[in-house]
Amino acid sequence: MQRAAVRVLRGARSPPVRPCPVRLCPVRPCPVRLCPVRPCPVRTPPVRERSAVAGSPPLGLLYERHGEPAAVVQLKDLEVPKLGDSDVHVKMLAAPINPADINMIQGTYPILSPLPAVGGNEGVGEVLEVGPRVMALKPGDWVIPADAGLGDSVIQNAANSGVGQAVIQIARASGIKTINVVRDRPDLPKLVERLMALGADYIVTEEMLRKPEMKDIFKSIPRPRLALNCVGGKSTTDMLRHLQPKGTMVTYGGMAKQPVTVPVSAFIFRDVRLRGFWMTQWRKQHAQDQESVAGMMDTLCQLIRRGQLTAPACTQVPLQEYRAALDASMKPFISSKQILVL
Ligand SMILES: NC(=O)c1ccc[n+]([C@@H]2O[C@H](COP(=O)([O-])OP(=O)(O)OC[C@H]3O[C@@H](n4cnc5c(N)ncnc54)[C@H](OP(=O)(O)O)[C@@H]3O)[C@@H](O)[C@H]2O)c1
Repeated sequence: MQRAAVRVLRGARSPPVRPCPVRLCPVRPCPVRLCPVRPCPVRTPPVRERSAVAGSPPLGLLYERHGEPAAVVQLKDLEVPKLGDSDVHVKMLAAPINPADINMIQGTYPILSPLPAVGGNEGVGEVLEVGPRVMALKPGDWVIPADAGLGDSVIQNAANSGVGQAVIQIARASGIKTINVVRDRPDLPKLVERLMALGADYIVTEEMLRKPEMKDIFKSIPRPRLALNCVGGKSTTDMLRHLQPKGTMVTYGGMAKQPVTVPVSAFIFRDVRLRGFWMTQWRKQHAQDQESVAGMMDTLCQLIRRGQLTAPACTQVPLQEYRAALDASMKPFISSKQILVL
């Protein structure tokens, strides 16, 4: 059984790489069927065909100190320890570079891996080998980390992000209108077209949020009861102004690295509610509630199978070109998730 490139992009562990300790969700049916509208972007020969590389050491993107990703991350050979009875040996096939991964490498994320660490937290992998006590998975299965009541309308910023694109599609499938805030850019019409094709109802730039014309939108749809914020700073304050009285703004990211400022009047006269969301914490809180987590995953899988929820626009980058991918993931207006293909 080959042991190539095990979890090459995984944040929470330092080498030597242990068989993946993350609980894994079998991706059933085969993920190819999870992308019904496009051919599956990951092309990998079956395990048997790749046995020619058996014995070659697994590769990992390691960082030994925190700093700018392109400067501190290096592609290195990893050591795979012996498979334990309950362990699963996974070869990662593709893994996105997310803002949280960049922040972990920079050392600015609220949780950090002990150094040296292998970067990354998400992706899809193929099971190569399972310990004798593992019943739920078998070699060849594709897996993802177990970790991927709205009003009538929802407003969100960074609407072209991976999360934002998912919100647009899930809201559309649920009959909820979306008002989507993006940064202005030279190719704005192209971005607008793309988000409309996903199901966005309104797309406004951060500047337009402050204009009186915003009122026109609310002649056709109710003001949102929910705002989703992953930016912070002035544009978030502007977005908050459009919430219904007693509406809730959930902050789940801080791309602008600016605090959220709320006018006193919003609390006193409109009674807005501010909440935070962190998936890591949410998962911990729901660890005992596997039924509802499985129910949510099932709902999402059904949307995917029906073609109502697709992956964000992606650029596949060979692993060796990781520096270019890291750079691109931090550039503005790229609108494409960098996926390292292993
Ligand atoms: N709380 C949680 O559990 C959780 C989980 C997952 C993700 N997140 C957060 O969700 C956000 C989106 O993640 P993702 O993976 O979907 O990201 P992504 O696809 O990489 O997109 C990043 C987005 O941020 C925007 N952006 C970057 N800098 C900005 C700035 N200074 N002002 C306004 N917008 C800016 C980009 O817009 P341009 O196109 O204009 O550059 C793009 O829309 C991130 O903040 C991430 O940390 C949080």
